Order: sequence, then C-alpha cells, then structure tokens
Amino acid sequence: MTQITLRRPDDMHLHLRDGAMLEAVLPETARHFARAIIMPNLVPPVVTARDAAAYRDRILAALPDGMAFDPLMTLYLTEATDPADVAAAHASGLVKAVKLYPAGATTNSQSGVRDFDKVRGVLEKMAEIGLPLCVHGEVTDSDIDIFDREAVFIDRVLDPIRRATPGLRVVMEHVTTKDGIDYIGETEKNLAGTITTHHLIINRNHILAGGIRPHYYCLPVAKRELHRLALREAATSGDKRYFLGTDSAPHPDHLKEHACGCAGCFTATNTMALLAHVFGEEGALDRLEGFTSNHGAAFYGLPANEDRITLEKTTTPARFPAKIDTGAGTITVFDPGFPVHWQVRD
Ligand code: DOR
Ligand code: ZN
Repeated sequence: MTQITLRRPDDMHLHLRDGAMLEAVLPETARHFARAIIMPNLVPPVVTARDAAAYRDRILAALPDGMAFDPLMTLYLTEATDPADVAAAHASGLVKAVKLYPAGATTNSQSGVRDFDKVRGVLEKMAEIGLPLCVHGEVTDSDIDIFDREAVFIDRVLDPIRRATPGLRVVMEHVTTKDGIDYIGETEKNLAGTITTHHLIINRNHILAGGIRPHYYCLPVAKRELHRLALREAATSGDKRYFLGTDSAPHPDHLKEHACGCAGCFTATNTMALLAHVFGEEGALDRLEGFTSNHGAAFYGLPANEDRITLEKTTTPARFPAKIDTGAGTITVFDPGFPVHWQVRD
C-alpha cells in the first residue's frame, strides 16, 4: 500500500494550553484533525460552564484563517463541582466530557479530587444524562511505585467508582499497561480507552537507558516492553473500545530539559505519520481509520467526519520540524528515533 485515505481524524485527548502556546500549537493539530477533546488543566483550571465557553472562544480566536477545527470542551472535576452546572453545560452542547484528575497526579492537577466520595453527586448526575467521565488513571500515594500507579488505580479507584455508578460512561485515558487493556477488555459496556501515539512507540528503556531523555517523559510514564506490545495489539485490533487520544502536551524546552522536568510529549505535528508507520508495521493499515476517525466519534455520539485526509508512503524519510518556536518558548516535536516513511498529503 503506498497511500491510504481516511476520514479526517479526531484527537480524543489534547492539551492546547492558552495564550502564545495555544496560538503556536493549535495549527499543528487543526492541520490534520477535525475535532479534539480539549483538556481543562489550565492555570486556573476550566471548572465551570462559563470557563469552558470562554476557553472555547479563545481557541476559536487563535485558529488561523482558512482552518476548520471544532474544540470539544471538557470540565475539570473538583470536589466543589456543581452537578447542575455540569448538566447545563452538557444540555447546551458546550461540554462533551468531565475530566477527573486525582489531586497531584500530573501537570496542574492540584485542584483535582482527593476524596472520591465528594464527587459522587456529580458522577450520578453524569450517569443520568450520559455525559462521559475522562479519567487520568493513576493513584498518587507516595508509597506506590510510579510504574504501578495505573494498575493500583484500577483496583482502588476506577473499579469502585464504576461499581458504585454502573451507568457512568468512562474513558480510561492514555492507557499504558496490559493491566489497563485487560480491564477494558473484560468490560462489555460504558468503558473505553484512549491510547497515545508515543506509548505505541516507546517503552521505559527509551526514557532511561543510555542517558535520560526528557522529551520522552510523560505521565503516565511509559512502562515495560510487554505493556507497549499490549497497547499495540489493542490499538490495531479493530476493537471499538480503543481510540486515539494523543495527549500531545507542549512544554517549553527549558522546562523539559530541567532538573525537575515537566511531563508531556508533543506529538501533534507528526502523529498521523507515526500512526501509519505503527499500523503498517502491525499489518493493520486497514484498521487505522477505525482507531483515529470512527471509534472515538461513536463513543462520544458524534457524527463521523465527512472530510478525508490522505497519507502517502515516501521513498525518503519524511521530514518533520525538530522544534517549533512559540511565543512561550521553543517546543520539541516528538522524535520516534527511527525513519518514518509516511506523510499526510497537503
Ligand atoms: O504527560 C502528561 N502531560 N500527562 C498528563 O497527564 C498531563 C500532561 C500535561 O498537561 O502536560
Ligand atoms: Zn493529558
């Protein structure tokens, strides 16, 4: 196969930030993607319907002329979130999901949830109205090894929440373990998982062996090879419960290349080419469209995009910018560490 045409994809987990960073990274996504689920972990976070409406306006104002893009807004769940505000934001069509960050789990998660009983009322309301909960699935207990935090979260937090509120529709985001894949695989209803591009490509050795590579550090951190292989199998299986959420998360280089570096891989620019490479390696190019363009829309009850994009196989390695200058500092584009022979046709 030397070219493949897909429905225009959606990114069901994306960090766009705000201000100068937003202006620089938004075109990188909008060039290839029709829509994205927009993460609310700004400072301060996007907590209320009013916050989400204002952020959506800022995103649309930052979109270059001639580009189309539909930001699918989310609310950041706090212990003070008002179920009525969430319901109104959903009813108006503004908000497509609520995001649960366990407090302290990742970038700007300080306002997240400590006591899960305190959000029970919101979760019940969401189950009633069919509004999905997007979950950052890691416990934050200091005695739990960082490589075990996802598996422990499933047992201690996710499964109890789902048992207490079985009608709640949940997206386990950026799954990084075979444990996560097994948990989703056992479940018939109301549970899906997003998988990032970078977790299909790197394992923990890529971050740590032979020198520390800060641009591969993200959360949840990449795990052992056996987990990467389980993610690849799930993503390329054609199973509708798995879809793309890149978690593309820009941080300026000086904060990545730092004694206490920020978590996040910036993959918006080359995600589609990298996914064509990965799906090609797995002999699953015919399943790429399901993963990037159909399964996520179906889970969120959105119409499939009518527009198409074409990926072409290249004879010489495709060239991507190594870095992008932004008004908030230079950012580094994810480097898979191998030549890629696919590119999106302009
Ligand atoms: O690596 C990550 N970066 N993981 C997250 O959960 C948050 C994100 C960010 O906002 O930088
Ligand atoms: Zn994220």
